[in-house]
Amino acid sequence: MDTTGNIFLPSGQSTIAGEVDALFSFLFWASMILFAIVMGGVGYFIWRYRHRGRETVTSGRAHSTALEFTWTAIPIIMVLIVFFWGFNVYMKMQVVPKDALEIKVTGQKWFWSFDYPHGAATVNELVIPAGKSVKLLMSSKDVIHSFFVPSFRIKMDVVPNRYSVTWFEAMNPGNYDLLCTEFCGKGHSEMIGLVKVVSEREYNEWVETSASLGEGLSLAEYGAQLYKSKACITCHSLDGTALVGPSFKDDFGTMRVLTGGQSVRIDENYIRESILNPQAKVAAGYDPVMPTYQGILKDRQIDALVEYIKSLAKNGAADEAE
Ligand code: CUA
Repeated sequence: MDTTGNIFLPSGQSTIAGEVDALFSFLFWASMILFAIVMGGVGYFIWRYRHRGRETVTSGRAHSTALEFTWTAIPIIMVLIVFFWGFNVYMKMQVVPKDALEIKVTGQKWFWSFDYPHGAATVNELVIPAGKSVKLLMSSKDVIHSFFVPSFRIKMDVVPNRYSVTWFEAMNPGNYDLLCTEFCGKGHSEMIGLVKVVSEREYNEWVETSASLGEGLSLAEYGAQLYKSKACITCHSLDGTALVGPSFKDDFGTMRVLTGGQSVRIDENYIRESILNPQAKVAAGYDPVMPTYQGILKDRQIDALVEYIKSLAKNGAADEAE
């Protein structure tokens, strides 16, 4: 089956994509042909039996066994074809191969996080090897999200308080869009990620280095990386624009007014507390929607983010001095 993509979907990049597309094409074209036959028939009869200014007596025929048999048998055959074909593809998508690499997926407002068997964790970027089955064990921390990778033709709801499972095998290295396709609040359209498919060798290298926690980088440089990779960027701008949360620009060292009227100085401890327990001190004018990063960020990563936010304020002061 041709999976080079069409008006509906991008090119198919998983082992199941061709079968999904074949079934989809069958349904689409069968519907189009039936539509043409029914509408053509309606049009023909409208024209054939139009009012011509005089009463004409039509045939008194009330019954045709042959005709009734035909219009009963053809739809039944088509429905059975669709059922068995669809059930076959559905089972293939449900039954996870035994040797699949299992990755834990967590959806929450408004990002995806991934936990790998070797202990690494990523945010909004799922790294997987090409040519290997990957099982996703998914749950949500808050509302219903939906994990959708158009190129792989997989879509599965991610629900709080229970696990849902899906699997796929990506065929070629590359970057593929990951979308949340269940409306989950005002950050829904920002809940986008990437599936990064790499060769098995690159994946193994990544596994070895991903636990290094930013070795060889300064804390602020590592923090700048984490700002993007851990999805802080979704809600906190660097240019002063207020998004879902306050901007990080010229933030550090200033006083912040909180909901409730008190104010607090933005220092290392305030940032740390806001990362681990975001609801403790919410900035005035913002909703208390930030998720906790408890268990997602390691201490060194929190240190790095603190350093990074600090460095933004210093740069801001330097700009003003010029
Ligand atoms: Cu998560 Cu929409």
